[in-house]
Amino acid sequence: MTCAGQGSSLGVCKRDIDLTKSILETASPASVPQHLPKHVAIIMDGNGRWARNRLLPREAGHVRGISSVRKVVRAAREIGLQYLTLYTFSTENWRRPESEVRHLMGLFRRYCRADVEKLHSHNVRVRFIGARSGLAPDIADIIESAEVLTSRNTALNLAFAFNYGSREELAEAARLLAQKARDGVLDPNTINASMLGGSLQSAGLPDADLVIRAGGERRLSNFLLWQAAYAEFVFVDKLWPDFDREDLLAALNEYARRDRRFGGISANERTRSSMSDEHVDAPISAEAIDAE
Ligand code: FPP
Repeated sequence: MTCAGQGSSLGVCKRDIDLTKSILETASPASVPQHLPKHVAIIMDGNGRWARNRLLPREAGHVRGISSVRKVVRAAREIGLQYLTLYTFSTENWRRPESEVRHLMGLFRRYCRADVEKLHSHNVRVRFIGARSGLAPDIADIIESAEVLTSRNTALNLAFAFNYGSREELAEAARLLAQKARDGVLDPNTINASMLGGSLQSAGLPDADLVIRAGGERRLSNFLLWQAAYAEFVFVDKLWPDFDREDLLAALNEYARRDRRFGGISANERTRSSMSDEHVDAPISAEAIDAE
């Protein structure tokens, strides 16, 4: 191809460069969708496999996992997500070898000591859901002071599910309500879904709209069983230490394409249905159904 008056010694002309640039731009990183979920919850899985693939101890995977936590929190803040919940340590994780549990606890301490002030300066509110009992006293203190320090912040609401198990959370809520009923301050007949939801450790967090699971598995693993009743799920094969802003954006774009009906019908269907109502002469009889 010749480019009159624009040739270069490398045989590349400006038009070629412009074309290449625009192709690269088209294939550029995903953009932020207009319709964002209010509450994104993430199961950060795959640290152990990431380390094993590199012949490293599992702990190395957890350390790299923290880099992904930082990338994703920063991205969530920039994108303008309102709620982000990260599954950091489950009640079942105590079954791991003692040395790994000790390491995870140590990482949690280090992460909080290093990052809570920074999060605070970025107006991020930090919360923790999960059982406080059974945690080392210094960890319980770290949690408490991070929550107090950031309680008035209004940008991203960042929750760490730490020593968290959804069944235990539900059982605890049931216990609280039962005690109130026993003490005569609650009529059991008035217990409804919103009262139970308001008695959970996560009270104050909205339902999860989008649950992302990294690491290739497709299960919920005792995470937000109640709060994810109508969540959309995006499963990502990448292992958590490789997960980054682009993966978050891809999941958000996937979410934006989903049609959420919450057991009803979509807005389009509703319009079509009300239009066709005008043409319905007679309902379909049960006999007609039987005859089919
Ligand atoms: C699961 O990977 C991951 C966890 C046990 C929880 C996530 C922990 C981190 C990201 C590090 C700590 C984070 C903070 C904020 C302190 P896995 O070990 O089950 O991976 P595998 O399925 O490949 O074995």
